[in-house]
Amino acid sequence: MLISFEGIDGSGKSTQARRLYEHLIKAGYNASLYRDPGSTELAEKIRELILSSQMDATTELFLFESARSHLVWYRVFPDLKEGKIVILDRFIDSTTAYQGYGREINLGTVSILNHIAIRGKKPDITFLLNVKLETALNRIKGKRTRFEDLDYLRKVRDAYLLIAHENKDRIVVIDAEVSEEEVFQEVLRVLRNKGLRV
Ligand code: TYD
Repeated sequence: MLISFEGIDGSGKSTQARRLYEHLIKAGYNASLYRDPGSTELAEKIRELILSSQMDATTELFLFESARSHLVWYRVFPDLKEGKIVILDRFIDSTTAYQGYGREINLGTVSILNHIAIRGKKPDITFLLNVKLETALNRIKGKRTRFEDLDYLRKVRDAYLLIAHENKDRIVVIDAEVSEEEVFQEVLRVLRNKGLRV
């Protein structure tokens, strides 16, 4: 089973991804947790490149997809083959939201590159942690973030909701304005409905 967490910076997705991972391990599942971009030696190098430089949208898109391709090929697929539950902190919907809607790259192009990078293997379930822009900004205050630009972040936030609306079979929108514990219980509830004993 492949599970991804999505949301704007400050939505709390990394915390929830980690909590779920720890919960699954305690419950006796074989699971792994990866961040995209990253989690292989090469993908971490690409991550550094992306986060430390300004670049045109297309170059950035290719770098994100290269990092993802490597992660999928060398971590995700082998793990799934072993029967593990794989949890991803960000995945394809980040690229659609940030590069597609945010940086206005043609959505068809983004979709094709996403498809190539993941070899067609979409997540079985994606949690979109939805917060107001103000909440996210408060949470990331003081922390390093690439996107100080409010308009950009607003565009990405709205894009995520649109993407969720268009992928109702896969993406579950979770209200992440509430407490960390409440968000986590909601994640577990959704997974139980999917038949997972957690
Ligand atoms: P991330 O490590 O998740 O940062 P944060 O903890 O702030 O959420 O992601 C790094 C940044 O890269 C984040 O601002 C979102 C951006 N990003 C894209 O623009 N496109 C992508 O495809 C991905 C995966 C991330």
